[in-house]
Amino acid sequence: MADSLTSDVATGRALLAPALAQRGGLCVLTGAGMSAESGIATFRDALTGYWSRFDPMDLASEDGFRANPERVWRWYAERRAGVRAAQPNAGHIALANLARRLPGVMTLVTQNVDDLHQRAGNTETIQLHGDILHDQWLGACQRHRRGGNVCDPDWAQPAEPPSCAECGNLVRPGVVWFGENLPLRALNAAEHNASNCAVLLVVGTSGAVWPAAGLASRARRQGATVIILNPAESEIDAEAHLVLRGTAARVLPALLATEGDGGW
Ligand code: APR
Repeated sequence: MADSLTSDVATGRALLAPALAQRGGLCVLTGAGMSAESGIATFRDALTGYWSRFDPMDLASEDGFRANPERVWRWYAERRAGVRAAQPNAGHIALANLARRLPGVMTLVTQNVDDLHQRAGNTETIQLHGDILHDQWLGACQRHRRGGNVCDPDWAQPAEPPSCAECGNLVRPGVVWFGENLPLRALNAAEHNASNCAVLLVVGTSGAVWPAAGLASRARRQGATVIILNPAESEIDAEAHLVLRGTAARVLPALLATEGDGGW
């Protein structure tokens, strides 16, 4: 680590110390950069080869899915395979270790649709943009409309995409597409945690996608210290009290090392 980054990490540890002594004291917000060192391409970076001919709206919107369900299903099948093959990196593990050593202190909010935080051990992760491995129905379940239980998407007839044998409803991935609202419960929880923490640590996000990007200014307005970790400039750097110019897998283990790792 370059000398200036080492001293910035020491500053970061000093800023974090009081937050780690209180319940909910640390809120962590992660973005695509968190999973970069696990080899998961961002949505736009994955638009290569065959997929480069498509507009993001063709592949990640309800209209795009309705226009060509098979194409969108295959795009997500490839991305799902990439997520399943990836492993949590040292940054995910550092966050999970902190949560285990200091129960109740850290809340974790992610824009990522992969499950690497959960597989590292952060099972309570708040997923603002959904879960790419989760299946859900495209439309309302007709059986449920008639007063029955919602059909389980797992019962759908296998195809690309699977569909309901009774009503033809299609299965779609459980991610938030362009033009869709974020899951309200997740957004409320994220805003609550950002508003009430002592330190908001923002890792690997460009700060270009709202409402997640607004969590930094929200936390700062409520008196929190904001630390940003990103190897490149982000659109919310101005909200930060401290910017760490490094990568998640390299810096988080040093920033968050706990007692057993020779830290707190
Ligand atoms: N460690 C930390 N940050 C990194 C790393 C790394 N190893 N590599 C890249 N980054 C940073 C980049 O500098 C960039 O600022 O991660 C950020 C990724 O930015 P985006 O791709 O815009 O990702 P994100 O901010 O999560 O975008 C939000 O947009 O595509 C949608 O739903 C998708 O959740 C995503 C949302």
